[in-house]
Amino acid sequence: MPLVSMRQLLDEAAKGGYGVGAFNVNNMEQIQAIMEAARETKAPVIIQASRGARAYSQDKYLYHLMLAAAELYPEIPLVMHLDHGNSFETCKSAIDLGFTSVMMDGSLLPDGKTPATFDQNVEVTRAVVEIAHAKGVTVEGEIGVLGGIEDGHGAGGTGLEHVTDPDQAVEFVAKTGVDALAIAIGTSHGAYKFSSKPDGSVLKMDILLAIHKRLPNVHLVMHGSSSVPKDLQDVINQYGGKLKPTWGVPVEEIQLGIRNGVRKINVDTDNRLAITGAIRKVFAEKPEEFDPRSYLKPAREAMKKLVALRMTQFGQAGHGSDYQAIPLAEMAAQYASETVAV
Ligand code: G3H
Ligand code: 13P
Ligand code: ZN
Repeated sequence: MPLVSMRQLLDEAAKGGYGVGAFNVNNMEQIQAIMEAARETKAPVIIQASRGARAYSQDKYLYHLMLAAAELYPEIPLVMHLDHGNSFETCKSAIDLGFTSVMMDGSLLPDGKTPATFDQNVEVTRAVVEIAHAKGVTVEGEIGVLGGIEDGHGAGGTGLEHVTDPDQAVEFVAKTGVDALAIAIGTSHGAYKFSSKPDGSVLKMDILLAIHKRLPNVHLVMHGSSSVPKDLQDVINQYGGKLKPTWGVPVEEIQLGIRNGVRKINVDTDNRLAITGAIRKVFAEKPEEFDPRSYLKPAREAMKKLVALRMTQFGQAGHGSDYQAIPLAEMAAQYASETVAV
């Protein structure tokens, strides 16, 4: 199956009432782990690359790895998504390369740190929607700002400083025409999200429910949604790591989100933890090893296990063969007819 648009995957997820994990990648082993998990669970796939991942890998390598994945797993609908595009140019370069979906994160200015105004966000997101939809490519926008900083991207803070205003969310969707909307509900990127199991004072599921009530047909996206499981932390620390105690987003809260309009769930940190724990274990137990495959194989296996679990928990498992890919040209034609109709 060719790479497909994210809009199609999320529309199908909405029909089926499930969520789809969007997993970050930087290299071949991570892509292999996700594809094997998808085959095992029969799940559709969103793979995403951040600006940092594109720079680390030289994005052409990543793109061709994605084409290889599409060829090797023809039964699986597969989206290649840009995570946290910081400018029109970043999104355009991803679309030109062949990404089938982009996030224009206009909640921050192009420096990736300073919160943007509502009008700045609308203007840049709308511009990306125009060029993306002309090619059938999906656009995710963001309103509100997450906490934390990852790879130099993020406004910092706790995650509660710029929680999404539901009224602004409605206006933002109407003015931009985005296909999916990332909202800020107190989560942040990375391992250190919460200092104890989060309750409603720090994880604002009430805001999510209010947004869904006002935008029942919009695909919502939860960023910073790693659960940071204790068992993965423990493996890292058992083999010489130094993680401080921390809590992520409980899976049952994500599942509540999925019952209320969340269709895309971003997960990176949990996979980083799984990989690092597996590698540390080999280094500690077999210090004589120096063949990278001796630690990359268990690392890939640990990530596959985690991804397969999340695919099951998010409900996408079993839905990989529900539909045929709609070609991007057809998606473009659909967008064009909607624009004419308005
Ligand atoms: O946006 C957050 C993701 O975890 C990507 O992280 O920018 O370090 O690649 P990164
Ligand atoms: P985590 O750091 O919680 O995995 O979030 C990843 C993310 O939101 C990528 O955009
Ligand atoms: Zn994110």
